[in-house]
Amino acid sequence: MASLPALPRKYHAASIWLLYAVGLVPAAYGFYLGATGMLPGNPVKEFEHLLGLWALRFLVATLAITPLRDLFGINWIRYRRALGLLAFWYVLMHFLTYMVLDQYLNFAAILTDIAKRPFITIGMAAFVMLIPLALTSNNWSIRRLGPGWVKLHRLVYVIAAAGALHFAMAVKVVALEQMIYLALVALLIAWRPIRPRFNRWKRGNNGRPQFNRA
Ligand code: HEM
Repeated sequence: MASLPALPRKYHAASIWLLYAVGLVPAAYGFYLGATGMLPGNPVKEFEHLLGLWALRFLVATLAITPLRDLFGINWIRYRRALGLLAFWYVLMHFLTYMVLDQYLNFAAILTDIAKRPFITIGMAAFVMLIPLALTSNNWSIRRLGPGWVKLHRLVYVIAAAGALHFAMAVKVVALEQMIYLALVALLIAWRPIRPRFNRWKRGNNGRPQFNRA
C-alpha cells in the first residue's frame, strides 16, 4: 500500500498548533453565527448541539489514531494529544453553554437535570472523567505517573462510549447519525483486544498486512 508522504520533522510542532487553531474554528464560527442571529431555530440549542457534536467527533478522532497506524501505517500519534484536548475544550464549552445560556446558572435545575435525566447524568459522568485526562495530557504527568498514566488514559474509551450513548439518548428518535457514532465507537473499542494479535501477525509479514492471503 502506498504510504502518505511524511511531514518533515521541522513542521511537526507547527502542524500541531495549526490543528488546535483549525479545531477551534467550528466553535468560533458557531458562536459568530449565533451572536449575529444566523443560527436557525433556537440559537442556544443549535450552538449547544454543535459543540456536543464536535466534542464527540474529536473523541472519535482521538481513538482512531492508533488503528490508523496499525492498519494503514499512517502515523499521526503526534496529533493525539491535541485531538483529545480539543475534545475536552468542546465538552467544556458544551457544558458551559448548557449551564449559562440554556439554564441561566439555575443550579437547582442543573443539579436536578444531572440527577434525574439519565442522558445528562451520562454526559456529566463523561465530562468528569475527561477532566483528569485533560489535566494529565502533558509530558510532566506522563513522566510522573509512569505506567499509571496509560491505565488512566484508557478511560477515554469509557468516555467516548458514554458520549455516544448520551448523544443517542438526547434525541427522541435514534437516527442514522447517532447509530454511526455508536458503531464507530464500538468498532474502535473492539479494536483494542484485536490489536496485539493483529500486530503480531503483521510483524510475521515483515510489517506489511496482507489482507488477501488465504
Ligand atoms: C463527553 C461528554 C459529552 C459529549 C460528547 C456530548 C455530546 C452531545 C451531543 C452530540 C448532543 C446532541 C447534539 C444534537 O442533538 O445534535 C448533546 C446534547 C446535549 N448535551 Fe451533551 N455531551 C457531553 C456532555 C454533556 C454534559 C456534561 C452536559 C450537561 C451537564 C450535557 C448536556 C447536554 C444537553 C442538555 C443536550 C441536549 C440539548 C437539547 O437538545 O435540549 N452534555 N450532547
